[in-house]
Formats: sequence, structure tokens, C-alpha cells
Amino acid sequence: MTQQEQSPSKLYIGLMSGTSADGIDLALVDFSKNPHQLVASYYQAYDDVTRAQITSLYTPSDNEIDRAGALDKLLAQQFADAINNFLLNEQLLPKDICAIGNHGQTIRHRPTDAQPFTLQIGCNQTLACITGIDVVGKFRDKDIALGGQGAPLVPAYHQEIFKDDKQDVNIVNIGGISNITFLPVNQSNKILGFDTGPGNALLDDWYRLHFPDCPIGIDLDGKWGATGVVNQQLLNSMLSDAYFALPAPKSTGREYFHIEWLRSHLVAFATDDIELMAQDIQATLLALTCQSIADIVKQLSSEGEIVLCGGGAHNPLLRQQISTLCPDHKVVTPQDKGVDNDSLEALVFAWLAYAYDHNINGNLPAVTGASKPTRLGLKFYP
Ligand SMILES: Nc1ncnc2c1ncn2[C@@H]1O[C@H](COP(=O)(O)OP(=O)(O)O)[C@@H](O)[C@H]1O
Ligand SMILES: [Mg+2]
Repeated sequence: MTQQEQSPSKLYIGLMSGTSADGIDLALVDFSKNPHQLVASYYQAYDDVTRAQITSLYTPSDNEIDRAGALDKLLAQQFADAINNFLLNEQLLPKDICAIGNHGQTIRHRPTDAQPFTLQIGCNQTLACITGIDVVGKFRDKDIALGGQGAPLVPAYHQEIFKDDKQDVNIVNIGGISNITFLPVNQSNKILGFDTGPGNALLDDWYRLHFPDCPIGIDLDGKWGATGVVNQQLLNSMLSDAYFALPAPKSTGREYFHIEWLRSHLVAFATDDIELMAQDIQATLLALTCQSIADIVKQLSSEGEIVLCGGGAHNPLLRQQISTLCPDHKVVTPQDKGVDNDSLEALVFAWLAYAYDHNINGNLPAVTGASKPTRLGLKFYP
């Protein structure tokens, strides 16, 4: 038996639920292996009621404290249910897990306010008490306290697994909001990472407005959008938003790119004679996601690779448009690199929990703008 086979496993669970509010992604990772290994992954979709409760807190409205407080506990219960189902599937016990890295559900992200803050719910303490497992959470808070954006936190991990000494690599993660990690060839000190703007969020919102009874609630494979025509005037109007031209570090969220933001750009069309069908708007929103990503990729590198990740990578229309807009870049998937796309972000939070336990810094100041690298997170015990 080799020494590696003898060493006891060091299992961590990463728990991620992004701003799409589609559901909970879990990854079970063994850090006793070098390199560490994804052992298993699991997904539990939110039901419609929970998703509506989450999205109703993305923008200011009545009685937010009571609603957020209750949802904080309810989500912890749902996270715990997902963990318990996962442990059952994997025939593991709570004592087998070193810790859970819990990102939580972001309901507000205001890193540039006079009093900057970011708020993730899904109570860490409750999760620890229900599961009987240590929980590391509140990963974004210290970076914000050190003057950073608190986001994105995935670039440090991207750097570890995707760096390439032959070409520039752009890792584009299309979740509700889209973020990029730029790994320039042989220049690890010049790594960049920031939110490019909307990913699937507006596509989901606009689709659900027109198909409220659709059980999956997404424009599957972009089929509805494909029946529409891109309106260049609307696209230009949306692309003129100041966020797209802001220099990095920068991050954004659903409190900014939401349906009212879209409506503010549609005002011009209410009085004009231009006929704009709902599906044309969907097509234009898809073009907005692709164009804003492509503009950034081409600013950062004239050629190289684009690793397309996140739920948006499943949308063939999105993949195809980004390829067309970036003809000198090669679009690949995490799978092409031996990494599972759907558990990638959950894996990062397993790694951040491991990093907490081993006193490893989790943020990159060049990315977030924090004043120094630091160990991220806080630990909660059962
Ligand atoms: N086959 C598909 N066609 C179109 N969109 C898809 C498809 N699969 C996933 N998506 C999009 O991906 C989103 C979920 O992506 P995800 O990476 O989980 O985002 P987040 O990190 O914000 O939760 C869904 O809300 C949906 O918009
Ligand atoms: Mg998700």
C-alpha cells in the first residue's frame, strides 16, 4: 500500500447557491489526495416558493428584516436536508466530514456603498447544529472589511487548476451574474477577476414574466430567444450602462441588474413606432450577456482560451454567440480540462473551508481590491 492510500481521507463539503436561485450545488472533496479530488456532487433544486422568497429580497421592499430573518433559517434547513441526502447517498456520517464550506444565498451585494456590505443568508450556526458538522461561512465579509469587493472569490482556485504556461486563459462563469478570471500566460501577478455584468439573471427574469407556469422557469437552450431578433438600439442602450466601462476591481449583483433596470432601457420604445416583441427582447438580453463578455475577453487578450463555466455554459446559443464574437479565441469547457462544470463553484467553497482550517489565504487583493491577502471565513460549531 502506498503512503497516499494509507492516509485518512480529509473530506470537505462545499455548498453553493448562486444568484440564479435555481438550487443548491454540493461537492464532496477529498483533500488527503494530491491533487485533491472531487469524490461526488449533488444538486437540489429550490421549489418555486423558496425561489420567489429569495428573489423578492434582491431589491428593497417592505418588511425585509422579518422576511430575511425567517428565510435565513428556512434556507439553513434546506441546506441541511441537501447535506443529509448527500451523506445518505454517499453512505457517510457527519463525523466523516471535516467541515462544510457554506457560501450562502446572496440577497444583497453593495460593495461600493458609503458603508459597503454584502449579505448571504442560510444561517451557518443553524446548519452546524442540524447537521452536527462544523461549518465555515461568511467568506466575503473579511475581504470587504479590508476594503475589497468581497468578490469574486473563485479566481484563486481557478489559478490553481486552470493556469497554462502556453496561452492566456479566460475563465468565464455564467451564473445569474457573469464573472471572469483572466490568467495571463506566465504572469501570475497580473491575474484579474471581476463581474462582467448580467449572465442568466435577466434572461431568467424576462422568460418567467412571459411563461409564469413553465415548471423549469428557464428559456431552455435559448429556444424562445432564438425566435426573436436582436434590437441593436436596445442593445446599445443597455451596453451604455456605466457598469460595463468601470475599471476593475468591480462586482455587481441582482440588486443592480434586475427587471426594472431592463424596463428603464425599454422606456424609449414605448413612444417610438418600433415594434419590439417579447422574444426580441429575450434575444437582445442574450446578446447583451455575450457582447459584454466578449468585449472584456478581447480587451484582456487577443487570443487564447475561454473556459466557459456555470449554468450558462449549458445554453448552446450562448456558447455559439460567444464563439462567434471571439473568433481568435478557442472556447472550451471545464470538462475538456478534466473538471466537472456543475460542481466547480461548490468545489471552490469546499476548498475555502479547507483553506480556513489550514490557514491558507483565500482572496487575491489584485482581484478584489482588499488591502491584503487574508484567510477568509468564520467557523461555527454544532
Ligand atoms: N440548458 C440550458 N439552457 C438555458 N439556460 C440554462 C440551461 N442550463 C442552465 N441554464 C441557466 O443557468 C442558470 C443556473 O446557472 P448557475 O451557474 O447555477 O447560476 P448561479 O451560480 O447564479 O446559481 C439557470 O438559471 C439558467 O438560466
Ligand atoms: Mg445555481
